[in-house]
Amino acid sequence: MTDDTAHERRALAGRLADAGVLTTPTLRGAVESVPRELFLKPGVFLPADGGWQPVPWATADEATRTQIAYREESLTTQLDGHLTADKVDGLVKGSPTSSSTTPVTVVSMIEELGLEDGHAVLEIGTGTGYSAALMCHRLGEDNVTTIEVDPCVAARADAALETAGFSTWTVTGDGLLGNPRRAPYDRVIATCAVRRIPYAWVRQTKPGGIILTTVGGTWNYGTGLAKVTVNEDGTAEGRIIGRSSFMQARSQAPELVSGDLSARVAYADSERATKVAPSLLTEWMPAFVAQLAAPRAQFTRARDTDGTALMYVFDPERESFAHFIAQGDVWKSVRQGGPVPLWDNIEQALMAWQEAGSPDISAVQLRVTDNSHTYWIEGHPALRWQHDLA
Ligand SMILES: C[S@@+](CC[C@H](N)C(=O)[O-])C[C@H]1O[C@@H](n2cnc3c(N)ncnc32)[C@H](O)[C@@H]1O
Repeated sequence: MTDDTAHERRALAGRLADAGVLTTPTLRGAVESVPRELFLKPGVFLPADGGWQPVPWATADEATRTQIAYREESLTTQLDGHLTADKVDGLVKGSPTSSSTTPVTVVSMIEELGLEDGHAVLEIGTGTGYSAALMCHRLGEDNVTTIEVDPCVAARADAALETAGFSTWTVTGDGLLGNPRRAPYDRVIATCAVRRIPYAWVRQTKPGGIILTTVGGTWNYGTGLAKVTVNEDGTAEGRIIGRSSFMQARSQAPELVSGDLSARVAYADSERATKVAPSLLTEWMPAFVAQLAAPRAQFTRARDTDGTALMYVFDPERESFAHFIAQGDVWKSVRQGGPVPLWDNIEQALMAWQEAGSPDISAVQLRVTDNSHTYWIEGHPALRWQHDLA
């Protein structure tokens, strides 16, 4: 199966260049050369009716394959850690566990790396291999190492990379450990989200080298793209350069609270009016701030059998919760239970953030050491969070 998609690749590169995302001529050459459709075998799942419609690549016609591959969308290629589009007949339910990230995100992240000839890159989250292929085209196959935790996904990506002409270093394993065998790297890029930047990545990056990854809590939003530079002293420093959302690195993904929540919130230690609207937690930057203030917390929304909206923050490891009570459409009060006063901590941070003029996520700076992550917003001592490992 060789689709002739040269025209679509050039058009994609043109759109990305017009949008100001693709600026480096050598990377433009990569976008124009690497056929994304090669990396979508054995097929994709398209969202449909609250589930997923499989489109197996072997039976889809060329026009369909081309039309899907050059959509500027992330394309889900695996559900629930095992299901691929060639294994199911009709609409299925499931959670995406591997995908081809939308080209605009992939390309803007690679541009952000400021690649130079001879740079050695480590990618965490090979997925389909498309982003690795773009970097191979730019740097040469020997300068790219890519790690994928799922052996089947890694094998498919490796095969696709070979077909595209790149015999690169595709490693199967937990990317949170990096890949010491080929270290040190000039650039480390993760296309999965992490709750904290593993110190192994800092260790494996040359001084002056860059680590680019999505960081944040366990929510699927309220996460940011961290860009840090490694210092001679083994620390790394930088900032959050914008919003970013990726699937969580598997080994860091927590078991999410679900099911009947009533038992979890049965015993409250306090109840009071809220000073800040808890509905703020549905917005991106407040959600980011909340997760800095309560790094292990999960945010859950549900509906009661009578349709009443329910909203909670849980820290299951610390047996702590905040349960918000609505009057009509307005969230009025909060019941809190357990040793960690989750909403007190989050509310205090949100109030300080509002008093600071509600700065954007790009105001957040970050320093990583071997035992801590410190996030802060300059000039606002109340907006500083240190997360210690020990
Ligand atoms: C969004 S996809 C990657 C997209 C890919 N770069 C592309 O362009 O096709 C995220 C991938 O990260 C992988 N992943 C999750 N946790 C990982 C970990 N701890 N180490 C390595 N890969 C991981 C998932 O299995 C998934 O394939």
